[in-house]
Amino acid sequence: MNVHSSTARTAEEAIAAQEALPPLTNEAATQVAMSNTLLTPRFYTTDFDEMDAIDVTPVRDEWDKLIAQMKSDPNNGHFKKNADWDNVDWDGMEPGLKAEFIDFLISSCTAEFSGCVLYKEMKRRGTNADITTLFQLMARDEARHAGFINDALREAGIAVNLGFLTQAKKYTYFRPKFIYYATYLSEKIGYARYITIFRHLEAHPEHRFHPIFKWFREWCNDEFSHGEAFALLLKTDPNLTNSRMNRLWIKFFLTAVYSTMWVRDHQRPAFHAALGVDPAWYGQEVFRKTSEISKQVFPMTLDIDSPRWIPNLERMQAANEQIAAGRKQGGFGGWVRRMAGSAGAAIAFVALLTIPVEKNAVPANPRLEPAY
Ligand SMILES: [Fe+2]
Ligand SMILES: [Fe+2]
Repeated sequence: MNVHSSTARTAEEAIAAQEALPPLTNEAATQVAMSNTLLTPRFYTTDFDEMDAIDVTPVRDEWDKLIAQMKSDPNNGHFKKNADWDNVDWDGMEPGLKAEFIDFLISSCTAEFSGCVLYKEMKRRGTNADITTLFQLMARDEARHAGFINDALREAGIAVNLGFLTQAKKYTYFRPKFIYYATYLSEKIGYARYITIFRHLEAHPEHRFHPIFKWFREWCNDEFSHGEAFALLLKTDPNLTNSRMNRLWIKFFLTAVYSTMWVRDHQRPAFHAALGVDPAWYGQEVFRKTSEISKQVFPMTLDIDSPRWIPNLERMQAANEQIAAGRKQGGFGGWVRRMAGSAGAAIAFVALLTIPVEKNAVPANPRLEPAY
């Protein structure tokens, strides 16, 4: 039986399909995926019993519709190379671009797989049929996404060892409510990132230097649905988005997710130049879409047009470069540089947090359709 990860019905099947492919000797990719810094995708664990106890009764109608749509599996078989997959000239690729693009693929694969392991674990530990059904469907999608990126990497002689990563990568504990905020946001920002690149390349196909971008529209629809599921989960308990303390947490997560994306993207100038995209424009565009969508559940959005917004993101980015330079330099001098960089990043982050938010009246029914 030869199942490809794109038609796998479960995450386990998709991972097994990837592992059955001929092994690649390249360990560098897995090492990159293993790294845990503020800017690399992490793996999460949580209080699964608390999540298992969620009662979706308050959102039952919308819940059942969403699950039925996910079960209908519109993207079954989509994440597979076909005739649209143009030949990629890896050897002819400009080395700077090649390095950044591979880094992008590895980091995307790790992020997709991070969702997969968290969702798969919730499904495995849970007993609540609503919750386990949802998480099994989301784990299936993320395993297909990670598998597809790995297929693209294999052509460059690289693959992330997903099985090894599950066993060996460090897991960070987040309380369930932090998982909801962070995961809701990462699904929605993932949608906004994929669709913005897809629309840009639709208008400028000459910049499509790799075929994987052709797959982004259906891809982002999966992420959109996952975000919808978390929006409904957040709706089951009004306290999660209304209490004073939780509103502060939401602001914190919005700021952390947006600023991390900004700094991470600015580390890949050659990649963005090849796409014909200015990372600052791209960042603001993605933040604007994500903010608009997040009005479905969050009572506020960040003021990304504040005159203090971009300057402090730039300060954070400069501080991050200082940290990287210090790490490279090593020794006492390098340590001093790293500490100065960390302090600079912390000050810039606090400055971002002091920008007043824009309040938003949340609708009774959160459900949205992908509109970009
Ligand atoms: Fe995904
Ligand atoms: Fe997702």
